[in-house]
Amino acid sequence: MANLTIRKLDELLKAELRQRAAANGRSMEDEVRVILRDAVHQRHGFAPSLPQAGGAAAAEPVPDDASPDKHEAFSASKAATARVTLIVGGGIAAYKAMDLIRRLKERGADVRVVLTKAAQQFVSPLTASALAHQRCYTDLFDPQSEFDAGHIRLARDCDLIVVAPATADLMAKMAGGHADDLATAILLATNRPVLLAPAMNPLMWNNPATRRNVDQLRRDGVAMVGPNAGEMAERGEAGTGRMAEPIEIAAAAQALFAPPPRPLRGRRVLITAGPTHEPIDPVRYIANRSSGKQGYAIAAAAARAGAEVVLISGPVDLAAPDGVTLTRVESARDMLTAVHAALPADVAIFAAAVADWRVASEGDQKIKKGAGGPPPLQLTENPDILATISKLAEGRPKLVIGFAAETENLLDNARAKLARKGCDWIVANDVSPATGVMGGDRNTVHLLMKSADAATIDSWPVMTKDDVARALVQRIAQTLEVHA
Ligand SMILES: Cc1cc2nc3c(=O)[nH]c(=O)nc-3n(C[C@H](O)[C@H](O)[C@H](O)COP(=O)(O)O)c2cc1C
Repeated sequence: MANLTIRKLDELLKAELRQRAAANGRSMEDEVRVILRDAVHQRHGFAPSLPQAGGAAAAEPVPDDASPDKHEAFSASKAATARVTLIVGGGIAAYKAMDLIRRLKERGADVRVVLTKAAQQFVSPLTASALAHQRCYTDLFDPQSEFDAGHIRLARDCDLIVVAPATADLMAKMAGGHADDLATAILLATNRPVLLAPAMNPLMWNNPATRRNVDQLRRDGVAMVGPNAGEMAERGEAGTGRMAEPIEIAAAAQALFAPPPRPLRGRRVLITAGPTHEPIDPVRYIANRSSGKQGYAIAAAAARAGAEVVLISGPVDLAAPDGVTLTRVESARDMLTAVHAALPADVAIFAAAVADWRVASEGDQKIKKGAGGPPPLQLTENPDILATISKLAEGRPKLVIGFAAETENLLDNARAKLARKGCDWIVANDVSPATGVMGGDRNTVHLLMKSADAATIDSWPVMTKDDVARALVQRIAQTLEVHA
């Protein structure tokens, strides 16, 4: 068998291979093996190996002569074609924007190209039109397209505007709100997301004027990909300023024009997380080792799935996830009050490690060490938040989920808890110190679901807490849909 030396491949091919391999978490050699295997399988009618879940969309196998329909399986929007207005600025990297047209089309986008006057010094309108399979636009005062204000159509009749290469000049004009040519008029008139792929000499990129413009554009909500570090077109120059590779830009664009599905849109989800602190006196409390990570991960996953999320958290050292309304509480009693206040909800997930007991009579003053020895601490039971909400006669969430953190007889205890509390599901996890679950980033859970006779148990493999959260949210969304 012939030997293949990756080092000897041409630079462009190597760069693309490196990105595919990184996106799929493989070595470059392994990536080549997968590509070869897929090529052989395709020839013999087998299915190709799809990019891994969560892997960048840039990872698909794309032969050089790829046509869009061949890659329908990887397309961002099979149902409706995404429309991208691609503005090409006047930089050396304009030639790479021609490849970007193809990369975007492979992902199911209809691409309309706008070339600045300077860009036409680097690439011709004919090349851009031929690759886009439609005319390209160059002139603001074009009677053919402006009879009905065509620049407004290019600005708004699209899902995304990509600027590649985004020159220092174009970014300065955007930051300043100029509109003296077709590209800048479109950028000023748009209400669509804008993705910039800056490309320029490192001195231009680091110039204080460019830094100010970049900061301004970011504040204005403009997304950016790159620039990357590396060698410049100018001889002997290197640094940050190279345009991101077309495959990287296409992946970033796809993430914007094909937003993730939001199966919990319109649902309100209530989540508790973390420990509770039960005061002994003004300076001391009873607590537990819960870090809140699993509950916070569920809140983040539910928010990403489009839910309106209220997170009620005991004292933890975690920031509120994006898009989540956070209420911080201390004790079990505070938590129950906050839960009642947050209802109604479609789903309630009680992931907090609520203290079962509190001190019966909390000291008003710090308890002093005295000759009488340690003070006797009389404990009393805390309210049972899970049981209280599960058994609500009115306003009970459709789906009530509890957590069982056990150190022994996990499944028996979880089954008993499911029956006793009146909730719908229990997420059971073993929190023995040896598992490292308390405070760690991984979890092994069993999902117990109430059914007519006994509980159905679904045991998941060891996963990160983020993956557990994603899987749980997905299961919740499916269940709500079935019972809608
Ligand atoms: C050979 C050459 C290469 C250039 N490359 C870049 C570049 O990579 N990035 C950049 O910001 N400007 C570059 N410029 C300068 C721009 O072409 C110039 O600022 C122009 O006005 C940009 O116009 P536009 O932003 O409307 O496309 C280059 C100029 C020349 C002559």
